[in-house]
Amino acid sequence: MSTSDTPFHLRGNFAPVLDEVEAFDLPVQGAIPRGLRGRYVRNGPNPKTGTSAHWFLGDGMLHGVELRDGRAARYRNRWVRTRKFLEDAPSFNEDFTRDITVGLANTHVVAHAGRVLALVETSLPTEVTPDLETVGCFDFGGRLTTGMTAHPKVCPRTGELHFFAYDYMAPWLTYHRADAGGRLVQSEVIEVPGPTMIHDFAITDRHVIFMDLPVIFDLDLAMNGTMPYRWSDEYGARLGVMPRGGSNADVRWVEIAPCYVFHPFNAYDDEQGGIVMDVARYPELWRAGWTQPSRAALHRWRIDLAAGRVSETTLDDRAIEFPRFDERRMGTAYRYGYAVHTGDGVDRGTGTAIIKYDLRGASSVAHDFGPGRIPAEPVFVPASAGSAEDEGWLLTYVYDAARDGSDLVILAAGDVTAKPVATVALPQRVPFGFHGSFIEDAS
Ligand SMILES: [Fe+2]
Repeated sequence: MSTSDTPFHLRGNFAPVLDEVEAFDLPVQGAIPRGLRGRYVRNGPNPKTGTSAHWFLGDGMLHGVELRDGRAARYRNRWVRTRKFLEDAPSFNEDFTRDITVGLANTHVVAHAGRVLALVETSLPTEVTPDLETVGCFDFGGRLTTGMTAHPKVCPRTGELHFFAYDYMAPWLTYHRADAGGRLVQSEVIEVPGPTMIHDFAITDRHVIFMDLPVIFDLDLAMNGTMPYRWSDEYGARLGVMPRGGSNADVRWVEIAPCYVFHPFNAYDDEQGGIVMDVARYPELWRAGWTQPSRAALHRWRIDLAAGRVSETTLDDRAIEFPRFDERRMGTAYRYGYAVHTGDGVDRGTGTAIIKYDLRGASSVAHDFGPGRIPAEPVFVPASAGSAEDEGWLLTYVYDAARDGSDLVILAAGDVTAKPVATVALPQRVPFGFHGSFIEDAS
């Protein structure tokens, strides 16, 4: 039973669900656009035992809704059958290195080169089928010998998959690139001053940008069995800019004001030879431990490579997380970003609105789902391959506290303040989770 002593991640809609369910032809309010053909799949932690030490530490569970012919044809949820899930395999080897074949696979799910990968940043990807059945660890035919960030980037121009891994043991940071066919073609150790937590990064048409920020590995915390990363006032903060196709020797490091960023929106090379990068920026993170509340807000960095300086502008004061944008614009100039307004309190993601930013004019509009209706990460799906930047839809799971249930809600990205295009009632609650993708049918 949930009480006020129960940690937040086991209460309310953070609490896991314990059943794997399948349902067909779900009830729809409104009309599902016929252009949506594929599966919206979202990952999140969902401990199979019903309990975990922290929100981040549950087994990955995928929730998918298949859309076709204007129907919500099927809902299905499945745990990712990792070695941790199946055999409770230990995460570490006897020499204290991480066993990268063991992970929770609970953070994101992405498609590349015909594969669907469930991801957690400490481990190898876990391949799953479009129907969410687990295939197993995927290591690029033995070529990948590190973990993989949960936030790889597909370059829309080349089809390449750019990613990295960080570790508490050297090498602390490694960059990787797979070609459009899914073959790992570059692995490059990137030198950094120490082991930091690096959740995400950015690419532009010409550069790869690493964030080396002051949330550092702490051996004492690790020995105590708690989250082994904490804020450091000493480490400093810097961005590393590497030319695409370059190596560690080509990385330019530029100092920035200390902060933490889990998630950027997009980044791009501007016409003055600099780089623009928009981020959900925390002024600091985990100074007093990893349960310390914190809030992020939209900031823009402009990296002046010639001067070796970064200017920083606050674009909005509101608390946000889970930024997304039209990924056809990945690495190039873009206009629109979407994020969850996480609420201004310390209530960890229980805001009721999705914000759409017009980053050209720094204005915004929002869709407020109303009291007790809490949206999650908004995933943009274009109406067609050639449609305009906000011509398409935002897909998100919305928790409805009044009925303790969840919906898949589809908003028109071009008119987010309008009532939803469609609301699909799901057969069970979808706990708050992390990231997802719309996996289009192979054509
Ligand atoms: Fe993330």
